[in-house]
Amino acid sequence: MLRHLINPGLELRQLQPADAASLFALVDAHRVKLREWLPWVDAMVKLADAKKYIADTLKDFAATRAYVCGIWSNGRLVGVIGQNRLDWAHRIAFPFYWLVPDSEGRGIMTLCFRAVIDDSFTQLRVKQIVIAVATGNVRAQRLPAKLGFKQVSTLKKAEWLYDHHVDHFIYSLAAPG
Ligand SMILES: CC(C)(COP(=O)(O)OP(=O)(O)OC[C@H]1O[C@@H](n2cnc3c(N)ncnc32)[C@H](O)[C@@H]1OP(=O)(O)O)[C@@H](O)C(=O)NCCC(=O)NCCS
Repeated sequence: MLRHLINPGLELRQLQPADAASLFALVDAHRVKLREWLPWVDAMVKLADAKKYIADTLKDFAATRAYVCGIWSNGRLVGVIGQNRLDWAHRIAFPFYWLVPDSEGRGIMTLCFRAVIDDSFTQLRVKQIVIAVATGNVRAQRLPAKLGFKQVSTLKKAEWLYDHHVDHFIYSLAAPG
């Protein structure tokens, strides 16, 4: 997915090198809140880190088709959604997403995640979508629950978040039909 207009005020667009400054500014402005559940925030400390991140996502896209899109709400970058990994051998997509706090609670991610799910099944033609959400991240758990995912397991100590481990709930959604 390179570009997808969800509605006139909401667009997903693959992150490009020219977006590095916007991405860095966004993360820098919200790092305290973002680092509560996202493990990479402390590794993005300067503009060059955002540039490298975007360059790496583009390399990954070229190699595996795993895309990373900025979420633009009324022209402003407010978050990121994409595919962490595409397992082509087993046709499984592993998406991820985050929004800055001042854009939460408006249904933005519900719309974006629906678009990524739809793209995963109709364009990438994967057979299953799997996501992992920390067991304490109650807000993030509402999305898979509302979009028809089934919680299939719990992984203990699945992720190291700076100074502690968190457990993950694993959710799965099978392709229709
Ligand atoms: C997880 C995260 C994306 C969820 O954001 P969110 O704002 O709750 O999700 P949405 O944009 O879909 O908004 C849904 C909320 O908006 C409200 N809302 C307002 N207008 C809405 C609309 N038109 N349609 C749907 N929901 C609407 C809903 O009531 C809903 O809140 P509820 O779940 O309490 O009912 C966000 O909290 C986040 O990025 N957190 C930090 C990073 C993170 O945890 N990422 C996930 C790692 S697995």
